[in-house]
Amino acid sequence: MTTYAVSDNLTPKERLLEKILIVDDNMVICTQLKWGLADEYTVFQAGDASEALELFKEHNPRVVVLDLGLPPHENTEVEGFRCLGEMLNMNPASKIIMLTGNDERHNALKAISMGAYDFYPKPPCLNELKVIISRAIHLANIEEQNRQLQRSIEITSGDSWGMIGQCAEMQKVFANIKKVASTNVPIFIAGESGTGKELVARALHDASSRNKKEFVAVNCGAIPENLLESELFGHEKGSFTGAHATVQGKFQQADKGTLFLDEIAELPLNLQVKLLRVLQEGVLQRVGGRENISIDTRTVCATNIDINAAVKEGRFREDLFYRVGVIVINLPPLRERGDDVILLSNFYLKLFSEEYNKRVRRFSGSALAFLKLHPWPGNVRELRNRIQRAVIMCESRAIEAVDLGCEQLPLEFFPTSELNMNNGTGTTLREAKDQLEREMIVTEMEQQDGNIMKTAEILGVSRPTLYGLLKKHGLINA
Ligand SMILES: Nc1ncnc2c1ncn2[C@@H]1O[C@H](COP(=O)(O)OP(=O)(O)OP(=O)(O)O)[C@@H](O)[C@H]1O
Ligand SMILES: [Mg+2]
Repeated sequence: MTTYAVSDNLTPKERLLEKILIVDDNMVICTQLKWGLADEYTVFQAGDASEALELFKEHNPRVVVLDLGLPPHENTEVEGFRCLGEMLNMNPASKIIMLTGNDERHNALKAISMGAYDFYPKPPCLNELKVIISRAIHLANIEEQNRQLQRSIEITSGDSWGMIGQCAEMQKVFANIKKVASTNVPIFIAGESGTGKELVARALHDASSRNKKEFVAVNCGAIPENLLESELFGHEKGSFTGAHATVQGKFQQADKGTLFLDEIAELPLNLQVKLLRVLQEGVLQRVGGRENISIDTRTVCATNIDINAAVKEGRFREDLFYRVGVIVINLPPLRERGDDVILLSNFYLKLFSEEYNKRVRRFSGSALAFLKLHPWPGNVRELRNRIQRAVIMCESRAIEAVDLGCEQLPLEFFPTSELNMNNGTGTTLREAKDQLEREMIVTEMEQQDGNIMKTAEILGVSRPTLYGLLKKHGLINA
């Protein structure tokens, strides 16, 4: 007899704490299963629905093995379905495995659609059932961790500023925002295009006591040089052709608030000198004016270029950098944020499905593989745009890799270096394909809560094939 062992990442002691309820009116089956499982798990057994529901209420077992035909209607599925429904009502997270007769496939499918985790034909083979139970416990634990993670995101992330991020680097960014927001110190935000610099600038404003006043953003790279000085500092009536009235500049608009100078490295050198003076003295003169106007504006500057290189090359004044960059917040590129890619993807999936009133609920395995392996040169902006487009275009419940703009499956997932057999890393095309195969199985199993049948269906393979693949990739041990 083949024996299978599934890694559920539990120590034997932890496994013993996991509770399993076996419900079957056939005492032989019940006792056999209890006997076979009791040295690994804490097992309870019940012979009918009311006893089962009592035990379920009292012990809240992680897994239930439930016979469909229970007394007093052993020959119909009525009691089994009632029991299933009530248990899921009490705890939707419990994993219920239905024991069914060979000719009861339609009932088994009905049970799955009601929320059962899986079904298994009678008479049960203990070793195979152990694999399913162990996988169910593994998944229940992952789901529990996921719920805890979701709760912690709500508490610890920059969620209230519309920022998602769980990785250590982003946690550091959020902590720094909190630390420096209430000071008046100028902040410099560095990061590639689309990494969220403007969001951080707004977060700094929102988290400060200046948040009742204005947050004013100026893109120094988007305004013609001859207009920039007036844009920043304002101008007096008649100071140049077309200056029909005296106009306040952005600095004054942001008085007692925050001025965000985006693409600061684009500021022409002569304006860099003027900006430095304004920041040092806290007063400005409008273009064409002589009056010294006091301002109380907090500056936040940003750039997506290497500012140290710009300073070295003389394109950006060193003294100005010291002035505006008292504190530097570095935003990591998305490709260095690990699982944040998936968090952000789910966030935007939900946002856009609601916005466009679509029934898209999840990413397929191939889409998840693409999300994880794509290098994201355009960072969060690119991810947001790809998901927005995918939600609009998608006609099913799941977004596929192609919907995300990935046209070639599966090779496009891999950096060319990985597909190149002579690249010195020793990675072959076969290995790359295996890697993708494993990735797709793992992600789809997670998406389907470990439900082998659903996963096999979505991946387009039979259940035995999927078991074979799980074994091949070491996801279960033969
Ligand atoms: N951590 C995040 N969580 C959620 N959305 C984010 C996050 N970071 C960025 N975004 C979104 O990504 C898009 C780009 O962000 P933002 O404009 O702040 O980037 P940027 O660094 O200022 O880009 P650029 O250098 O091109 O000006 C925006 O739609 C923003 O809402
Ligand atoms: Mg920006």
